[in-house]
Amino acid sequence: MTSQIKQALRLNLPAYPFAELERKASEIKASGRPLFDLSIGDPDLSPPSFLIDAINKALEDPRSHQYPSCRGDRDVRSSVARWFKGRFGVDIDPDKQVCILIGAKEGLGNIARALVNPGDIVATPDPAYPVYFRAGCKLVDGRQLGIKLDPENGFLPDLSKIKNAKILYLNYPNNPTGAEAPDDFLVELADLVKQNPDMTLVYDMAYSEMSFNRPPRSILEFTPDAVEFHSLSKMACATGFRVGFAVGEPNRISALIRMKEEIDSGVPLPFQRALAAMLDAYDGSTPPPEVFKYREIFSRRKTLLSDALEKHGFDIFRTDATFYIWFRVGDDELPFIARALERGVLLTPGSGFGSNGKGWVRASVTAPDETVSAAAEILTGLV
Ligand SMILES: Cc1ncc(COP(=O)(O)O)c(C=O)c1O
Repeated sequence: MTSQIKQALRLNLPAYPFAELERKASEIKASGRPLFDLSIGDPDLSPPSFLIDAINKALEDPRSHQYPSCRGDRDVRSSVARWFKGRFGVDIDPDKQVCILIGAKEGLGNIARALVNPGDIVATPDPAYPVYFRAGCKLVDGRQLGIKLDPENGFLPDLSKIKNAKILYLNYPNNPTGAEAPDDFLVELADLVKQNPDMTLVYDMAYSEMSFNRPPRSILEFTPDAVEFHSLSKMACATGFRVGFAVGEPNRISALIRMKEEIDSGVPLPFQRALAAMLDAYDGSTPPPEVFKYREIFSRRKTLLSDALEKHGFDIFRTDATFYIWFRVGDDELPFIARALERGVLLTPGSGFGSNGKGWVRASVTAPDETVSAAAEILTGLV
């Protein structure tokens, strides 16, 4: 017998946008119709085979059969510190400044749980990866301060608008717009951090390795007083491995670890070892060949779809980072999404990323070339 369970009021949120997209995709698949899914940023490419080897080897290690360390295995944290020095030139203490995560998403939510009291202000960009304003604010009873990102400013926030925030979430290279942060912006941001010692800057670099022309800089190159989030998901096309890490200012990292100790028991060791194998494969700031291949494929697909859409009059925010295309359709956003869906193309409405995303659409080129080409043909036929 089912009883009516009343969920906690804080869960009184609209359905998580990507869960809703997954449901729509399953519906189309179940009906037998062809599906061209450009919605969720979930790469179709395989992780490097040396990651699978690392996992298989680690499975045979008896330590993998026991609880992992919540903050992360010491050797894996050392790999993070070594990578950080080679990639960004920043020294990190593996014992005080690193926490391994069950994917960046988990840490982005738990850092708010560790730092935000009810009523505290949480500044989140608009549009943004929804976790910041949901898990990072609503679920901890914070007060959201939406900071508009607009094309005129290259989707960078006006930092003078950020006042009294307990946490400021920022993310470059950016989901959903693909925007990148220039060095002068990072200098300004470091200054804001200095002026606001009670604020925690949560700088999300989940796409740090998905920039096609220049490697993005870490905020920790500009200030030590921030927490930066990284992920194996996009770097290695390994979203299913569920592993990422946070690095940065020791007191904030320690608060995050304290919160995690109450809630989870860490990432299974074989997947931590996969992360270490990926980071150890870097030669200084140069990634292994697989990352160059991923960049080449995503960049080519982005150009293919952007060119096709632009030719048909769509206003594209062109960038050389991430596997997302962010384009403007104006008042037609939801009808356009619905017309695309009728023809089997699944896209993400811009308003799912915040009210300032209204009028925009995100397409993710994380589907095979043929799917992207077929979707381009369908979408350009909709105008
Ligand atoms: C900006 C951003 N941060 C974090 C994540 C989550 O990464 P992970 O798979 O490591 O949880 C995503 C996933 O789409 C993202 O877009």
